Amino acid sequence: MALQIQPFDGVIGAEVLGADLSQAFAEAEQQLLIDAWSKYSVLVFRDQMVTPEQFMRFSRYFGDLEIHVLEQYLHREHPEIFVVSNILEDGKNIGTPDAGRYWHTDLSYLAEPSRGSILYAIEIPEDDGKTLGNTLWASTAAAYEALPSATRDSIDTLKAEYSLGNRFNKLAEDDTQHIEMTDEQKAKTPSVIHPVVRTHPVTGRRGILVNEGHTTHIQGLPADESRALLEKLWAQCAKDEFTYRHEWQVGDVVMWDNTLTQHLAICDYALPQRRLLHRTTITGDRPH
Ligand code: OGA
Ligand code: MN
Repeated sequence: MALQIQPFDGVIGAEVLGADLSQAFAEAEQQLLIDAWSKYSVLVFRDQMVTPEQFMRFSRYFGDLEIHVLEQYLHREHPEIFVVSNILEDGKNIGTPDAGRYWHTDLSYLAEPSRGSILYAIEIPEDDGKTLGNTLWASTAAAYEALPSATRDSIDTLKAEYSLGNRFNKLAEDDTQHIEMTDEQKAKTPSVIHPVVRTHPVTGRRGILVNEGHTTHIQGLPADESRALLEKLWAQCAKDEFTYRHEWQVGDVVMWDNTLTQHLAICDYALPQRRLLHRTTITGDRPH
């Protein structure tokens, strides 16, 4: 395959041309993509058609695959595939109906958050030719680098608490979705402490890790100061100049590096508009 990486205009993301994800990649091609993944944080592949097996083979070039704690949303034959969907079968969600309504970085509530995730678009809602259910990615590195140096210094050594329950509490408070975790799932996801700013394992670049979905508070600060600082950092990451907005087409594969990104699902559709994506999630290390 003659792969070509075409960076987007902004600070994050690139399109990969000439790739056919249904085929095996040679080692040099895998390495090119691994390097581009660290460098551009988000890689977009258009017009793909893959079976679950082919999708998993491609995903494994980047690391081991996670099995998500919310087992009710796993693909029935392939638990390495997490289903993101609003579709109901027999009155039950076939995948997580919460595509990611708050800015977050996947699995940042685990001691070892995922290194990256890959989504494959199977059904995408639209209204009158307008694509719905876009996803935004923010470069938390560009957002961090644009902060005044005194602010960077003051947050560099701070730590914060991250929890999955935080996200579900917010969804319930906003009265959008009620996702109940079993006691076993809760026991598997105790809250964890990570730095506020993390370092990329390959490039050494630093970026903001605290995110609206999973961060509850910054350690060692009074509650009001913690909240004010978190809101300031979240707003910094979400600025237009640091984000890429993806308008999905069926057959798109988007992979991202969770280390220096946050993402947000735009929930502007509802049944009978159907949305279905398959996600694989690549294991990662403890943030530092
Ligand atoms: C995810 C996620 C966003 C979307 O799968 O991790 O946040 O728009 N999805 O589906
Ligand atoms: Mn996500």
